[in-house]
Amino acid sequence: MSIFIKNLANLVGQEVEIKGWLYNKRSSGPIAFLELRDGTGWIQAVAVKAELSPEIWDLVEKVSQESSVAVLGTVSKHPKKDNVYELQVKDFKIIQLAQDYPIAHKEHGPDFLMENRHLWLRSKKQWAILRVRDAIITAIGEYLHQESFIKVDSPVFTPNACEGTTTLFPVPYFDLGTAYLSQSGQLYIEAAIASVGRCYDFGPVFRAEKSKTKRHLTEFWMMDAEAAFVEHDENLNIQEGLVRHIIRYCLKNCKEELTVLERNTEPLEKADQPFTRYTYDQAIAKLHELGSDIKYGEDLGNDDEGLLTKDSEVPVFIAKWPKSIKPFYMKRDPENPELVLNDDLIATEGAGELIGGSQREDDYELLLSRIKAEGLSPEEYQWYLDLRKYGSVPHSGFGIGLERTVRWITGVEHIRECIPFPRTIGRLRP
Ligand code: 4AD
Ligand code: MG
Repeated sequence: MSIFIKNLANLVGQEVEIKGWLYNKRSSGPIAFLELRDGTGWIQAVAVKAELSPEIWDLVEKVSQESSVAVLGTVSKHPKKDNVYELQVKDFKIIQLAQDYPIAHKEHGPDFLMENRHLWLRSKKQWAILRVRDAIITAIGEYLHQESFIKVDSPVFTPNACEGTTTLFPVPYFDLGTAYLSQSGQLYIEAAIASVGRCYDFGPVFRAEKSKTKRHLTEFWMMDAEAAFVEHDENLNIQEGLVRHIIRYCLKNCKEELTVLERNTEPLEKADQPFTRYTYDQAIAKLHELGSDIKYGEDLGNDDEGLLTKDSEVPVFIAKWPKSIKPFYMKRDPENPELVLNDDLIATEGAGELIGGSQREDDYELLLSRIKAEGLSPEEYQWYLDLRKYGSVPHSGFGIGLERTVRWITGVEHIRECIPFPRTIGRLRP
């Protein structure tokens, strides 16, 4: 019977078969140490020449890095390390003998690794990142269902912009003209809340970002959440609850992965406390105190975000921005019509913006005037305006970037490692 490596702890003394790949091999004369990977974990199999037939020992000697193998052996505890197990090899089969695997166990340049992304995914660090990414997705779904959100999918082909017209990807769409790849499913899930109350989508979104930074992809995954009868302050509470749930979930379920990534988890443990809440005005004043030359009314750059959070143990909300630099759908602040009821959430350790959210404009006339003022076509947004005609309610939502979150939790430097097959301005392959 084949067993997953993650389950070996309960099988000490028993004979099991593991199917997987040879990650690494060290030999010292009549003993070979085979490091195996099966997807669920990593284990060292110890093959001793004197205990194997000559045919099997030949296979052990011949097997190469990344060959696929089936290994029969007895599970034992590691002689020195706690919670680490080994396999004493009894039988060994090569399923396919790999030839000259291009990624050796040494430093390679990022371009070479990116070109071999289809193979690079197998390395230990990439394995750990993929698993943390999966854990974050699971944590998000768990938290939202706990808070009575259900998943409602939004389309990828859309006729209009959600986040400004400068980063749209056009696609020819039969006789109907041009479609654009979705920048965010927000507008669609706003429609769905009148059906299900609270909902979220989670899928790939697209932005023709010209920025070549460590934080930008042209295709990334976003979770948009939207809730009826939720106003600005409660919107922030939900976001904070979500992010703290992600931290706790990963600290609990990704210990091995975070160890592989050499992630110091102390800052994450500390981040699980009430978040700081600044208004945009307060953030600008604080930035001036810290020596930034940002002008009131400007968007915060990477450096400003870093400066603002550098001494903070917890993520920082920046709320109520000038409406001139934010999208048309955000609700004006009743206390100051020049501001909107929105927020950006900036993570700690220089990780930058994770979330953009806002209360939505729920008044038909005001929304129409904002659409016109942005030079957008009211006809294209007629369906969205309809939502303000038939049972409009105060409502709010937000979008969290998955890869930005993966980057923060894992501590990986570049966002291109936080998605299996990254798309950036300079990369479309593999
Ligand atoms: O702040 P953004 O643009 O907000 C929206 O799209 C809203 N419609 C969401 C909503 O209210 N439902 O994007 C949300 C998040 C950002 O905070 C960031 O984490 C991520 O998406 N993001 C990117 N991640 C990687 N590469 C890019 N080019 C990104 N642009 C935004
Ligand atoms: Mg944003």
